[in-house]
Amino acid sequence: MSRTSNFRLFDFIYKVLNTWPDFQHSLTQLTSLGQWEKWQDRVFEDLTDKKILEIGVGPGKLLRRLAQKGYSVTGIELRHGMADDARRRIKKAGFDVDILTQSIYKLPFKNEVFDCIVMTFILGEIDHLDKAILEMKRVLKKSGKVVVIAGGMPQDKNFVAKFLFMLVKSHTSLRLERDNVAYFSKHGFQTNRVDFGPFYVINKIVAVKQ
Ligand SMILES: C[S@@+](CC[C@H](N)C(=O)[O-])C[C@H]1O[C@@H](n2cnc3c(N)ncnc32)[C@H](O)[C@@H]1O
Repeated sequence: MSRTSNFRLFDFIYKVLNTWPDFQHSLTQLTSLGQWEKWQDRVFEDLTDKKILEIGVGPGKLLRRLAQKGYSVTGIELRHGMADDARRRIKKAGFDVDILTQSIYKLPFKNEVFDCIVMTFILGEIDHLDKAILEMKRVLKKSGKVVVIAGGMPQDKNFVAKFLFMLVKSHTSLRLERDNVAYFSKHGFQTNRVDFGPFYVINKIVAVKQ
């Protein structure tokens, strides 16, 4: 008899917190010990061109910083509540940015329009990564790049990280141990990954379209 249950505690908390932007803010600050925005800002090290798409903008804080730095940005967000919160935040900051309520699997853009795609802390939620990568590849210009910040098993598979992931594994369907780099490479991207943060459980992937 199977002892597995469909109820996953970590997934439930994650879903509830991501439905309400204020809770999402508290969760991110708590889990990152106040480092979330610093981790997000690692994307700026790799941005050179101006036309940027951010996917999974959440409450839109990175999107606002991108706009403040003069990038031409467009946002995509799956959840209506989050998208509305991001729109309010961007408008209050005095920027006019399109934030479309859409999924990564069906980007409402023509081919080859963006220089760069930015995604922070969303990759673990993407079940069909092949499909998502093909769609991102379609809207990226040649030599355009995807810059990802994500949580996941570090490349050194250190003891503490292995222990932490073992604890959450049965409570979540988030793809925390998938080899995301292998997916980008498979679709012809030139990739580079750097691990950082506590016990190296945060990583940045830069994948360049060839
Ligand atoms: C953990 S939050 C991160 C939000 C923000 N990027 C940040 O770093 O604070 C992940 C976000 O990705 C969004 N998301 C999940 N699946 C998505 C999809 N298929 N297409 C677009 N957005 C998605 C969620 O709604 C959520 O707002």
